[in-house]
Amino acid sequence: MADSFDDECDYLFKAILIGDSAVGKSNLLTRFAKDHFRLDSKPTIGVEFAYRNIKIGDKIIKAQIWDTAGQERFRAITSSYYRGARGALLVYDITRRQTFNSLAKWLKEIREFGDSDMAIALVGNKTDLGHAREVSEEEGRSLAENEGLCFMETSALENLNVEEAFLQLITRIHKVTSKKNLEAKANQVKTSTPSAGNSILHLDEVSATKQTGGCRCSR
Ligand code: GTP
Ligand code: MG
Repeated sequence: MADSFDDECDYLFKAILIGDSAVGKSNLLTRFAKDHFRLDSKPTIGVEFAYRNIKIGDKIIKAQIWDTAGQERFRAITSSYYRGARGALLVYDITRRQTFNSLAKWLKEIREFGDSDMAIALVGNKTDLGHAREVSEEEGRSLAENEGLCFMETSALENLNVEEAFLQLITRIHKVTSKKNLEAKANQVKTSTPSAGNSILHLDEVSATKQTGGCRCSR
């Protein structure tokens, strides 16, 4: 894949999807990127990714989302998922308490491999299965508050809050990055060469497509 950075984008952000197997990570991503949902989706092997352009204020952000395997045996080198990632969507299944209990393990991994200022959004998926709920919304929200995370319950199947969850994460990344940029500018020596206009961040390990508003999954 020989992609180059999209000139029309102001920022390129990499974010990762993590959480136990079968919580709905892949379907959340295909819902967000392509508005697709599959009841018979297969477990992810290794990593897959998708892009989508988003406008925040007057900036166009290309979000590159990496979808990782929940199953340990399909996970490749964990540190490579985290390299350059500005945010993580940490997903559990509201109908399986075990996936909620695993969050401590995932948070430990994020803190071990991710940047200290990584934006994290906690997502309780499958709200359409309310009759089988094992984790209350309050429990999810309270954990998120204690850990300083954004929080949202979603249904990839019903397309409920999916867009909102990703946008919340990307907005948080944008805020952190803008703050960092301002701080860097404040410290910059006056003689340094100005850039050509656009701020392009985290290009290591990242490539992008020439599209506006669209999206693409690479498999
Ligand atoms: P791994 O790739 O193994 O880590 O799993 P995953 O987290 O990517 O899960 P995936 O998206 O493949 O979904 C697992 C199963 O849950 C599939 O049968 C999906 O159709 C189903 N699923 C995903 N999201 C929802 C949802 O919002 N509601 C319901 N009812 N089912 C969902
Ligand atoms: Mg998957």
